[in-house]
Amino acid sequence: MVQKKLPLFIKFIVIAILFVGNGFAYSQSEGLKTNIVNGANFLDTQGNVINAHGGGILKVDGFYYWIGENRHDDVLVSCYRSADLVHWEFRGNLLTRSSNPELANANIERPKVIYNETTKQFVMWMHYELSRDYSYARAAVAYSSNIEKPFTYLKSFRPFGNMSRDCTLYKDEDGTAYFLSAARENYDMMLYKLTDDYLDTKEQLATLWPGGHREAPALVKRGEYYFLMTSGCTGWAPNQAKYAYSKSISGPWSELQDIGNTTTFDTQSTFILPIEGNKTTSYLYIGDRWDGKQYFNSKNIFLPLTFQNDTEMELNWVGTLLPNILTGELLTP
Ligand code: DGJ
Repeated sequence: MVQKKLPLFIKFIVIAILFVGNGFAYSQSEGLKTNIVNGANFLDTQGNVINAHGGGILKVDGFYYWIGENRHDDVLVSCYRSADLVHWEFRGNLLTRSSNPELANANIERPKVIYNETTKQFVMWMHYELSRDYSYARAAVAYSSNIEKPFTYLKSFRPFGNMSRDCTLYKDEDGTAYFLSAARENYDMMLYKLTDDYLDTKEQLATLWPGGHREAPALVKRGEYYFLMTSGCTGWAPNQAKYAYSKSISGPWSELQDIGNTTTFDTQSTFILPIEGNKTTSYLYIGDRWDGKQYFNSKNIFLPLTFQNDTEMELNWVGTLLPNILTGELLTP
């Protein structure tokens, strides 16, 4: 039998495929994913489940920082860092029950962080409740000069006397910052302008969809339009997300319109991250797939938000996702 010799470049391709294939299998078994796998636990680089629910992501010095809820032991807010949005390294706890006497018995939800260029401080806003009591309904504020180091807890309060539950922070292109939170037993979504140092509310700007009963706000700007995504109020159970758009953050906003499927793919919105690359800008939806009975069984879900035109936003399910932070593309391997 005559054995045909394989050309060298084909041999190289075969070896490369085997190598990459083994690499995938190896890393999957180690729990270190080569892309985002929705529905699975997201693990940090040490193989521990990531605790960053209700959180947000911001880019600092070339790294993405993911900051969110951690309810383990006396921890309240944790920080992870990634260069590629897939591999996350635990960097530390930013708030714990011992950070301040007011936190000893607190329940902290949906922490979000932005950077103040003038004061050179990272500022965190969050939803503050007393443990197992959901009637306190306050906003809380903390700050730090280093995003990875413990934050100094400042205070909790009700902005302009309003209840304040599910919330988000938004820093606009001109440096003006806004806080949105659910008020009046979650019937109203309030929009506040922050003071120049971002440590307080300065102005109550608008009541969005009064009586609309919306929570889980996530705000992003694309082109000339702001997009605000929210969920209905059904506790831990998922429901139909809706979004609205506006050319001005204080409105008028469009009517609320459905996005995703009737359960938002079994998630609740927490954040939208624009990924600006040299080819395009993509929009990453970050949702929580809550397990209301076993909080620690909750998952994080990353999905692409896409746009049909200037005002039509879509959310589709993908099982796997690979952000390319250089080109800005969200690939679905
Ligand atoms: C829905 C909120 O969005 C979550 O952050 C959490 O507060 C649950 N409700 C609690 O039921």
